[in-house]
Amino acid sequence: MNKKIGLFIGLSLMAFPVHQAWSEISAEQAEKEKALKNPYPNDFGPDKIDVSKYSAEQQAGYKLMLDKCAKCHTPSRPLNSQFLDLKPEEIAAAKKTNPEIFKDKQVWQAESGIWQRYIKRMMAKPGCNISTEEGKKIWKFIVEDSKRRKTGAAAASWSAQRKKFLADFKTKYPERHKELFEK
Ligand code: HEC
Repeated sequence: MNKKIGLFIGLSLMAFPVHQAWSEISAEQAEKEKALKNPYPNDFGPDKIDVSKYSAEQQAGYKLMLDKCAKCHTPSRPLNSQFLDLKPEEIAAAKKTNPEIFKDKQVWQAESGIWQRYIKRMMAKPGCNISTEEGKKIWKFIVEDSKRRKTGAAAASWSAQRKKFLADFKTKYPERHKELFEK
């Protein structure tokens, strides 16, 4: 009898961490399903970019992003986003030099701190597993990359690309397009 109770307690203790790990796995799975079930225009763009002209630090941030931000959706989602994170003084300057980037929020959403907010939001998701240090490196990369590929002389080609993703998205997921942009 005592042996049986002992065995029961032993098994329960063993089962406890297993149970915990299992619930974490299912929370991660649920997050992934949510990410895939709710598509974005971003997903219609490439899942990689050429970073050969970027600094070594930026290239490392890019690699980290490819690894860490591809667990629930592909890297297309961050890479082809309308998000553009500019400091207040950069916003003021761009209003003079690049006024078009404030005219269409589906193409450019220029806000101070927007990438930081979203990276923190992603990091809070179950199963994300990104340390503060890694999150910072990804953030540095994505802020810089957004500026390089979406503003200045690159603004026109970015606009053309993003409009194509938006059009493809609207054709394939008209209901989801309504939900995101026609409210
Ligand atoms: C654990 C799963 C998971 C991981 C890991 C993850 N995401 Fe996401 N991501 C989601 C889900 C789910 C959504 C749908 C919107 C939401 O729930 O916030 C999303 C949406 C997005 C969007 C679209 C937001 C919008 O409103 O336009 C961007 C951009 C994004 N993720 C970037 C990232 C970046 C950058 C990383 C890495 C730092 C990352 N994601 C890692 C699950 C994840």
